[in-house]
Amino acid sequence: MASLEVLITERQIQEKVSELARRISADYGDTPVLLVSVLKGSFIFLADLMRQLGPNTEVDFVQTSSYGEGTSTSGVVQIRKDLDVSIEGRHVLIVEDILDTGLTLAHLRELLGTRRPRSLKVVTLLRKPDAAQRETQAEYVGFEIPDRFVVGYGLDHAERYRNLPYVAVLHQEV
Ligand code: IMP
Repeated sequence: MASLEVLITERQIQEKVSELARRISADYGDTPVLLVSVLKGSFIFLADLMRQLGPNTEVDFVQTSSYGEGTSTSGVVQIRKDLDVSIEGRHVLIVEDILDTGLTLAHLRELLGTRRPRSLKVVTLLRKPDAAQRETQAEYVGFEIPDRFVVGYGLDHAERYRNLPYVAVLHQEV
């Protein structure tokens, strides 16, 4: 049996998304920006964020996978689905759901960096202490959260719980 403990409410998330959108809009102004959403976890955050950004906003998707046991990252990050468009000369903003070790993001930044974007920044809704400690680069961070396994608002456990409107800690009784 598993139980859920609400960590961030729907209202707190919506307020934070609006705040992030205001900051991003202030920084980019009317400059066209390509959002690169990291599937699958970021799709709900992306949808809410994007609807609060200006008309010069486009989106493309990338999917990574890390092969490891259970709920921890193995250290090997692979691209399962690449971008459809060229990012050369474009302003790119990576949209992440959560930074845990920060490894996925570090890999993605390196890869996309080689494709010569005009600029490359990151927005993440959640960041765990490991990534914060390593100062994993993210220009925009929604919430700093404890080192717990969380689900909801796009985040899953074995593909479940993505549709929860809040973020919750998943307690698994063994
Ligand atoms: P990192 O490479 O360790 O930063 O891991 C990033 C990826 O691991 C995220 O994009 C998520 O897919 C997954 N992940 C890390 N922590 C959690 C969590 O608490 N709940 C759900 N997925 C997580």
